[in-house]
Amino acid sequence: MSTSVLVTGGAGYIGSHACAVLAQQGYQPVVLDNLVYGHREAVKWGPLYEGSIADAKLVGEILTKHKIDAVLHFAAYAYVGESVNDPLKYYHNNVAETVSLLTTLVEHKISKFVFSSTCATYGNPEKLPIDEAHPQKPINPYGASKLMVERVLQDLAAIGKMNSVALRYFNAAGACNEFGLGEDHDPETHLIPLVLKSMLPGGSKIKVFGNDYATRDGSCLRDYIHVYDLATAHVKALDSLERSGKAWDVFNLGTGSGHSTFEVIQAASKVVGREIPFDVAPRRAGDPAELVADASKALTKLGWKPERSDLASILSSAWDWHQKRCLAPF
Ligand SMILES: NC(=O)c1ccc[n+]([C@@H]2O[C@H](COP(=O)([O-])OP(=O)(O)OC[C@H]3O[C@@H](n4cnc5c(N)ncnc54)[C@H](O)[C@@H]3O)[C@@H](O)[C@H]2O)c1
Repeated sequence: MSTSVLVTGGAGYIGSHACAVLAQQGYQPVVLDNLVYGHREAVKWGPLYEGSIADAKLVGEILTKHKIDAVLHFAAYAYVGESVNDPLKYYHNNVAETVSLLTTLVEHKISKFVFSSTCATYGNPEKLPIDEAHPQKPINPYGASKLMVERVLQDLAAIGKMNSVALRYFNAAGACNEFGLGEDHDPETHLIPLVLKSMLPGGSKIKVFGNDYATRDGSCLRDYIHVYDLATAHVKALDSLERSGKAWDVFNLGTGSGHSTFEVIQAASKVVGREIPFDVAPRRAGDPAELVADASKALTKLGWKPERSDLASILSSAWDWHQKRCLAPF
């Protein structure tokens, strides 16, 4: 019988891809999602329970019914700007609801937990590339909410109640057309889908925020990681929890190389086959010039290797996905 894994937020972008990869590797994903942002149609590899991670009764029933052995915890709100304007929404959903979930898991003696953390826990980089020992000084409530959960997990690990791995993603991007999955946030705030969707019917011209940063072409640099590679890292992290018996660990997930906004637009123009128009707008507050991961720990300790995270593969997979979605929305 395959091992059942609870995937919170499994109807969302990264969680749905993780379900596909879990199923491919012989696990049975069981999704819990309140569908505030997720898509019912993205849950294809196991049951979907519609509800909140803080619903102890529902979570308890799922754990028992499916003999859950481990949890991948993607469920969260992830809009940085919104978190600044409505911090309580973020501390409530991302922290308080996660603490409720953890309470239920501990009661049911579930001791394997993989957490979706973020490079936003580091704040403004003090050195580049950013490794896991870099100081964590988040500059917005979203990043702070994720750092708080990391702390809760470390405290639970210290008393032997829960073994966990936090994966700090850099910029997730791309699609897996073989699974019929891709990025479909509403509202969309991420650069790559905005650039590609600007070339589809109904798309709006993109804005480049700042062309006067101290980078090679003046625009911001980010480390893009294909969502498939993120998904495979989760399965490796689960396996490492089985294998290593370590109570707490943390890994950056990125490629180690950054692409500037102008480079992304230029590469996207090649994929789309047309020049992509854009306007330059003033810098946005809180955007660091450069965010690039040192992901060598994940490479050596998890045995993980990004396979699809070159910019051309990310863009062409995402372009295929957005064209199809434009013709046939969910
Ligand atoms: N997308 C990125 O680039 C990125 C980068 C770093 C970290 N992350 C983290 O990865 C995770 C997944 O991100 P995503 O881009 O797939 O987001 P997403 O919004 O597509 O998926 C999150 C899912 O969680 C669900 N959800 C939210 N709160 C819930 C709750 N209380 N109970 C039940 N379900 C709930 C939503 O309905 C949604 O389906 C998040 O935790 C996010 O903070 C994402």
